[in-house]
Amino acid sequence: MAYSEQVVDHYENPRNVGAFDANDASVGTGMVGAPACGDVMRLQIRVNAQGVIEDAKFKTYGCGSAIASSSLVTEWVRGRTLDEALAIKNSQIAEELALPPVKIHCSILAEDAIKAAVADFRSRQATGEAATLVSEQPACASSTR
Ligand code: FES
Repeated sequence: MAYSEQVVDHYENPRNVGAFDANDASVGTGMVGAPACGDVMRLQIRVNAQGVIEDAKFKTYGCGSAIASSSLVTEWVRGRTLDEALAIKNSQIAEELALPPVKIHCSILAEDAIKAAVADFRSRQATGEAATLVSEQPACASSTR
């Protein structure tokens, strides 16, 4: 299957690969898996006191489209509020990356990862607890497949 130029660009030059300290109170961590293929995406956001996402990082073990989707959303969420980040739809990601129908689930993974990261951040703000089950999962590395 041929990947679009946009996917290849993000795949070859992924933005914001890495991780924050998941125990940092300003960080939210989302880790999601795709049942269809077993690929895994870990997306983290760093949120400032005004509730704006200042930075984001990801690690994805998955296909080129999953890596491109996560790379793209780390760019998109920067400078956005949590609610604005939650408004990002997988259809926007799929359109930006020109994903074919068979790769739509890769963009869904990215949307789910944002939602999970925001939910993690909010729940930890609410409880005041730094550690979560999600953040204790082993990190996964970007894949080359
Ligand atoms: Fe599963 Fe892309 S093939 S995330």
